[in-house]
Amino acid sequence: MPDHSQLIFAALEARKQSIATYSKFQVGAALMTVDGEIITGANIESASYGLSCCAERVALFKALTDGYHKFQALAVASPGGAAPCGACRQLIAEYAADTEILLIDSDAPENPKSTRINELLPDSFTGEDLQAC
Ligand code: THU
Repeated sequence: MPDHSQLIFAALEARKQSIATYSKFQVGAALMTVDGEIITGANIESASYGLSCCAERVALFKALTDGYHKFQALAVASPGGAAPCGACRQLIAEYAADTEILLIDSDAPENPKSTRINELLPDSFTGEDLQAC
């Protein structure tokens, strides 16, 4: 099993940049590219609540707009080690499908839970489905 300690540390550090003014639920995410680069994100909330963005999507959009498209692992750190929300699952399925996903309880980071997007979002809708028309 690969050593994910650096990636887990990056997600925990990213969490410190969370702006969770309303929910107080701070989340950090760290994506590792196939070349070992790490790109991080944290959740950012808005006074117009629906505009808030999850840590996973912040990290993914940062990575994609920096030109990284191939990832080996994604670490997500939050209280209790929550799994990504539905919107993030959709984007992970489209842009980081082959990635190991590590769910980290920020209060007990030594026991990450490993999963994959095909477990979290089976039978996902992708760009290939659009080829049917
Ligand atoms: N949140 C994330 O950043 N990632 C998740 O996987 C679940 C939820 C954020 C969104 C919002 O800022 C706060 O957590 C509470 O929902």
